[in-house]
Amino acid sequence: MGPRAGTFRPVIPNHYMIRHLRIEPNLVLAPMEGVTDLTFRRLVRSIGAVGLTVTEFIAGEALRRGIPKAEMMARFDPDEHPVAIQIYGRNPEAMAEAARAIEDAGADIVDLNFGCPSKKVCAHSGGSSLLREPELARQIVKSVRAAVKIPLTVKMRSGYDAGLRNAPYIGRMCQEEGVEALAIHWRTRTDQYGGVRAVDKIAETKSRVKIPVVGNGDIVDIASARAMFRDTGVDGIMIGRGAIKNPWVFKQIHAQLLGLPEVVVDADEKRKVLLRYFEGIRAEFKTDRGVLGRMKKIANYFTHGLPHGSELRVAFLHAQTIDDAIGHTNRYFDWLCEEEIKRGRPFAHTAVPVHDLPVGADQSAAWAAQRDRAST
Ligand SMILES: Cc1cc2nc3c(=O)[nH]c(=O)nc-3n(C[C@H](O)[C@H](O)[C@H](O)COP(=O)(O)O)c2cc1C
Repeated sequence: MGPRAGTFRPVIPNHYMIRHLRIEPNLVLAPMEGVTDLTFRRLVRSIGAVGLTVTEFIAGEALRRGIPKAEMMARFDPDEHPVAIQIYGRNPEAMAEAARAIEDAGADIVDLNFGCPSKKVCAHSGGSSLLREPELARQIVKSVRAAVKIPLTVKMRSGYDAGLRNAPYIGRMCQEEGVEALAIHWRTRTDQYGGVRAVDKIAETKSRVKIPVVGNGDIVDIASARAMFRDTGVDGIMIGRGAIKNPWVFKQIHAQLLGLPEVVVDADEKRKVLLRYFEGIRAEFKTDRGVLGRMKKIANYFTHGLPHGSELRVAFLHAQTIDDAIGHTNRYFDWLCEEEIKRGRPFAHTAVPVHDLPVGADQSAAWAAQRDRAST
C-alpha cells in the first residue's frame, strides 16, 4: 500500500525527537516479552546503532504494587539511555501509579501498550483490546499524562480487526491527550502475526499527527527498512523479531542508510555474541531450567538464516543441560568458522544464497562427523 498524498518524504530521516530526547539513529528495539530483558537489551546496545530500547511489557498493576518480578523487568542500566519502560493495563489509576514509579526510577519514557494481541492481556488487562475501547484508552492516557512529567509514548497495532483499522483515530486522540510519539505495528489484533502487509494506516496516522510516528512490522534488513520509510513517511522504524534473529540488524541498516561500508559479521563474532548472551542470562536467571528455556528461545530465532542453522536449532531443542547447549553451539560454530575459512568470506546472517552452501546431506554428515570427533 502506498502512502496518502503528501506523506511521502524522499529523504530518509536519521533521527527524531521525543520532546528533548534525540532518538538517533532512529532505529528502535521493539518491546518483546520474554526477550527484551536487561540482558538482551545490553547485547543489542553493545553491538550498536540502536537509538532507543524498550522493556518487555509489564503489568501496571504489578508495578504499582511493587511486585518483585515487575520491578526486575523494569530495571535498566545506568548508561541505558534513552530507555522506555512499557506498561499495560486497563485501570487508569493503576497505570498512573506505575508510571510514577517508572519516572522515579529515572527512566526516560513511559510507553503504553495498546497493541498486545494475546487473549490473556486483552481479556483482563488492555493491550490491543483498548483499540475497541477508545474512551477507556483516552482515560488511561489522561491519567498517566497527569501523573508524570517525562515523555509518554504509545505502541499500538493498526487496528483491532479488518473492520476497525482505527490507528489514525487513536493516534489523534493520543496526541490530543499529550502522548509524544507513537509506534505502530501494521498488523491488526486479529492478524496476530499473519496477514498481508498493509502499512497504509501507518502512513495515514503519520499524515494526521504532528508527533513522531515509528513504523513496525517485519523489518529485517535494509530493503524492508527502506520500504517502511518510503511507504509511510515515518520518522523512525522499530525492529523486533529481526533483531533476535540478527542483533546486528540495526548496525547493518544504519551503515547502509549512511552509505557506509556493509557490516559483515563472521562466524566467530556470532559465536562470541551468542555465548556472551548465554553468560548474561546465566547470571540473571535463578534456575538452570529458566536459563535453558531462554537459551532455546533465543537460539530458535538466532539460528534462522545461518547455514544449517536448523541443525543447531534441533540440537538445542534436545539439549537437556546448559552445558549441552553450549557444547552444541561451540561445535556448530567450529564448523561454520572452518567453512568460512574455506570459502574465504563470512556467510551473511540473514540471506544465505543457496548456491553458496554445501549440499545439505553432505554437510550434515560432515558436521555430524565433526560433532562425533569433538565428543570423543
Ligand atoms: C516474543 C514476542 C514478544 C512480544 N512482546 C511484546 C511486548 O511485550 N510489548 C509490545 O508492545 N509488543 C510485543 N511484541 C510485538 C513486537 O513489539 C512487534 O510489534 C512485533 O513483533 C512486530 O514487529 P517485528 O515484525 O519486527 O517482530 C512481541 C513480539 C514477540 C515476537
